[in-house]
Amino acid sequence: MTILVTGAAGFLGNLLVKRLVAEEQPVRALVHSAAKAKIRLGEIADHIEIVPGDVTRADSLDVAMRGARAVIHTVAIALEKGGRTYESVNYEGTLNVLRAAEAAGVQRFINISQNGAKADLPYRFLASKGRAQAAVAGSTLAWTALRPSAIFGAQDEFFNTFARLLKITPLVFPLIDGGKAEFQPVSAHDVVEAALRCLDDDSTIGAELALGGPEVLTLGEIERRVLDATGSMRLLVPVPASLLRPVVALVQRLLPGSPVNTSLLELLAVPNIVPDNALVARFGLSPIPFAGEHIVYLRDNTLGDTLAKFFGNATVN
Ligand SMILES: NC(=O)c1ccc[n+]([C@@H]2O[C@H](COP(=O)([O-])OP(=O)(O)OC[C@H]3O[C@@H](n4cnc5c(N)ncnc54)[C@H](OP(=O)(O)O)[C@@H]3O)[C@@H](O)[C@H]2O)c1
Repeated sequence: MTILVTGAAGFLGNLLVKRLVAEEQPVRALVHSAAKAKIRLGEIADHIEIVPGDVTRADSLDVAMRGARAVIHTVAIALEKGGRTYESVNYEGTLNVLRAAEAAGVQRFINISQNGAKADLPYRFLASKGRAQAAVAGSTLAWTALRPSAIFGAQDEFFNTFARLLKITPLVFPLIDGGKAEFQPVSAHDVVEAALRCLDDDSTIGAELALGGPEVLTLGEIERRVLDATGSMRLLVPVPASLLRPVVALVQRLLPGSPVNTSLLELLAVPNIVPDNALVARFGLSPIPFAGEHIVYLRDNTLGDTLAKFFGNATVN
């Protein structure tokens, strides 16, 4: 029976869909932007059902849910834009997806949550993801939540943004808030693997599983790895978050494709690490490191891509 992937043209969503297709599972892809879906899913379009839908419009979800055995819910926004808010997409959108899934009798629900997400946090993005997960946990569905740290992979937005910024900063590069913030970068392939294992493993029902890579890295170490991977040399100059805040607020207003907003900047204060890594403890995997051959994709960013992304608001990398 059909597996519905929401956010199917997104970074994680399209990898999930492609992996399910490779395993010859019947897949339905809920997509928001048709143009993005064509680019990301075009090559497998003959093997999947593509259904347009907007999670903020409950009435657009019924067709997608019809006959679905399982749902993997990946929709969320990290940047608010054009009236799309954390509350409307991440929280209320998830409520709509849950109600539609319950009404359609979906048997399994995998929610892609976020490491550190919690309903009562003062950070709006993490709070919206936390409230969404609380709603999932309160639903009648047989759910599992995955809570990844920062996810890396060819189409990621976080790590690629550093590689893009290198294209427009020839000599020095900001070491954001001294580079102290901690992450445990996890490969998109490992997150996909975990999601698929959960689908077939009822012992994960009702579990919130944190996912991380094999190493805790500071932002400074991540920046150095991005420099190495892209063959770049820059003088890293510490810039305090208090100085960056007004700059980010301005960039967010002026650049149509701003890669950051002040809400995300605040998250640097929250360690994004995974002491109890389910990839290892639960699934017995050896997580892929943010290193070597696994991050050569960072080299693919060109100056043209960077300008298109930041100034032209290109939607797909
Ligand atoms: N990337 C990370 O580092 C990371 C880390 C931890 C957890 N996560 C979680 O993993 C999930 C997937 O993240 P991602 O990086 O793959 O994000 P992504 O690339 O931005 O994908 C999200 C998808 O959601 C779709 N979407 C947005 N608003 C929608 C709406 N109103 N209705 C229907 N679809 C909508 C987007 O479509 P359009 O672009 O066409 O609007 C996009 O395809 C998210 O829940 C995220 O919170 C991500």
